[in-house]
Order: sequence, then C-alpha cells, then structure tokens
Amino acid sequence: MQTHENQLTQERVESVQYRTFSLLHVSDLRRRKCGYSTMMFDFLIISAALLGIGYAVLWLTVLKMPRFKRSVKLNGKTVIITGSNTGIGRATALDLAKRGARIILACRDKQRAEMGAGAGIVYMHLDLASLQSVRSFAENFLKTEPRLDILINNAGEISFFSDGLGMIFGVNHIGHFLLTVLLLDRLKACAPSRVVTVSSRGYEIGNIDFECINAHKDLGRGNSALSLLRLYTHSKLCNILFTHELAKRLEGTNVTCYSLHPGAIRTEIGRHANLLWKMVLTPIMALFFRDVESGVQTTLYCALQEGIEHLSGRYFSKCAVQKVRAKARDDATAKKLWEVSERLSGLA
Ligand SMILES: *[C@@H]1O[C@H](CO)[C@@H](O)[C@H](O)[C@H]1NC(C)=O
Repeated sequence: MQTHENQLTQERVESVQYRTFSLLHVSDLRRRKCGYSTMMFDFLIISAALLGIGYAVLWLTVLKMPRFKRSVKLNGKTVIITGSNTGIGRATALDLAKRGARIILACRDKQRAEMGAGAGIVYMHLDLASLQSVRSFAENFLKTEPRLDILINNAGEISFFSDGLGMIFGVNHIGHFLLTVLLLDRLKACAPSRVVTVSSRGYEIGNIDFECINAHKDLGRGNSALSLLRLYTHSKLCNILFTHELAKRLEGTNVTCYSLHPGAIRTEIGRHANLLWKMVLTPIMALFFRDVESGVQTTLYCALQEGIEHLSGRYFSKCAVQKVRAKARDDATAKKLWEVSERLSGLA
C-alpha cells in the first residue's frame, strides 16, 4: 500500500518535471529558432493593445463632447461673433447662419473671413488689439445695424506680439470688455439677449496680479513659451470674472451672459507661434484634442438653450453649467477687474 502510493507520487513528480521540461524545451527551441525578436514583438503587440484600450476609454469619457441638438431658429435675429474667420468662431458662424440669423463676422482679416455664404453673413473689420478699432467697429455697427440679439466674444490670442497693452490681455480681455460695454444699450433694447464669452479651463492655473496690470498694462512679464501660456490662462480667468460681474450689472434687464470652456479643440490658435511651440503642440493636439465641430457645442448651448437665464454669469462646459474655483467667482476681484478695465479701455 505504502509502496504503491510512493510509486504514484514518484510518477506524478516525474510527469510534472517532464511537462516543465518540455515547456522549457519548446520555448527554448522557439527562442533559438526565432531569436528574442518574437518575444519583443509579443510585448509590443500587447502594449499597443493596452494603449489602444486606454485611449478608447479616454475618448469615451474625458474627451466625450455632448451635442447641442435643439433646432432653435434665429430668423430676424442678429449675432456678432469675434474671431469668426477660423476655427470655432467660423464653425459657430456657419451654424447660426443656417438657423436663419444675420451674422456679423467681427475680425481682422477680410480674406480669411470670406465664407461664400449668402447675404445673411456680413464682414465688419475689428482688430481687438486696438481700442480705436473696437470703437470704430461699435460705431459702425450701431449706425448700420438695427438689432443685436447675441454677442459672442470668441476671439482668442496666444501670440508673441506685444503692442502697448499686453497683446493677450488686450485682445482676450480688454478688447472684448470695451466691445461688450459699447454694445450694451443695443443688447438691452433687443432683450431678451445674450453675451457669450469663450474662456478656457486653463483659467484654473491663472491668476490676476493687479500690481502688474497697473505697472505694465499686462497680466505678467516675459515672452517665453511658458510665460505666454501663463498669460493666456490669466486672460481666461479675466473672461470668467468679467462675465460674473457683468451678470450683476445686467440684473433685471433680460440681457444674460455666460462664459464657457469649449473643450480641448484643435484650432489655429497657435498659428502665429514659433516652430518649436508648434512641434510641441501639434502631436498633443492630434491625439487629445477634439475637432472644431465639438468645440462649437457649448457656445451654441449658451447662445441658444432656453431656460438657462437664471444661470446668468455662470461658467459652462460640455453643454452644462459647472462649478468654478473660488478665485473665478470672487465678487471683490471681479469688481476690481471691471474698474481697472474701464480705466485701461478709456471708459472711466
Ligand atoms: C423681461 O422679460 C419679462 C418676461 O418676458 C418681462 O415681463 C419684463 O418686462 C422684461 N423686463 C425688461 C426690463 O425688459
């Protein structure tokens, strides 16, 4: 009995040993035959599959963008869109034109603004980097157009140029501030009407240094790529605070205002940037940024969605209102920024 069991155990051990041996032997043969490249190849295939799955998950969650599907019509309404010659602004203009609105393309470059669209789309020169140009635009617009129903402050600048006021501060905030204030009476006369300002989630790392604004008429110093990006985030924080304060000043007028993050969108915003900057941006954009059509959705939502009037002054992303960091809803900072902006734009 004892001997029999011993014998069985012995057999089992031998068989396991044999199997282990044969496995080793086979893999050894394979290795000898094909070299290590087969294993390397397997490894690469598995890594690529994992990366692919990870990317798909990212695409379906973080990068997913809801669509604005309402078929709101805008016949008889007039919309101004700044920076409407390229990217999100252009796509927004085309969408609103299809809904029947009269579209004023407010941008620097007539050639780029040509859309071959019908009589419903009009180009009016506006260079947001020049306060004089903003004033001329407003004057010209108020003289020639009877209505204003929606103002979309869309233009965004992230370039190395500087001219008087810091360029990024001047275009992204001060120019739009002055434009909006000059058009407020017309917006009130056409109420219910809206002011939609395109900001960016980048505001989260922005801040506002009033001492720097007073000393240099800019949000910060330096012109490296990194400080440029910083200036951009500061200016996007200004957009949200501007909307926050504007909503208070517009209470009871039926003019409402909203700021928004369009999503990480492949646009030409870096088109004036240098080569190094482009080499960094291009691959990141290709992988993790959405198409322009996605970038239009939250702007459309803020401009057209019915029943969001009680959310005037708030910040939106992915077609929904979002909580913002404390610094982006600070009453005192918003008020101070408004007063400083009045002074810098020559209103006060
Ligand atoms: C705002 O809209 C409401 C509802 O349409 C209207 O009753 C009210 O008179 C409007 N207020 C102003 C200041 O236009």
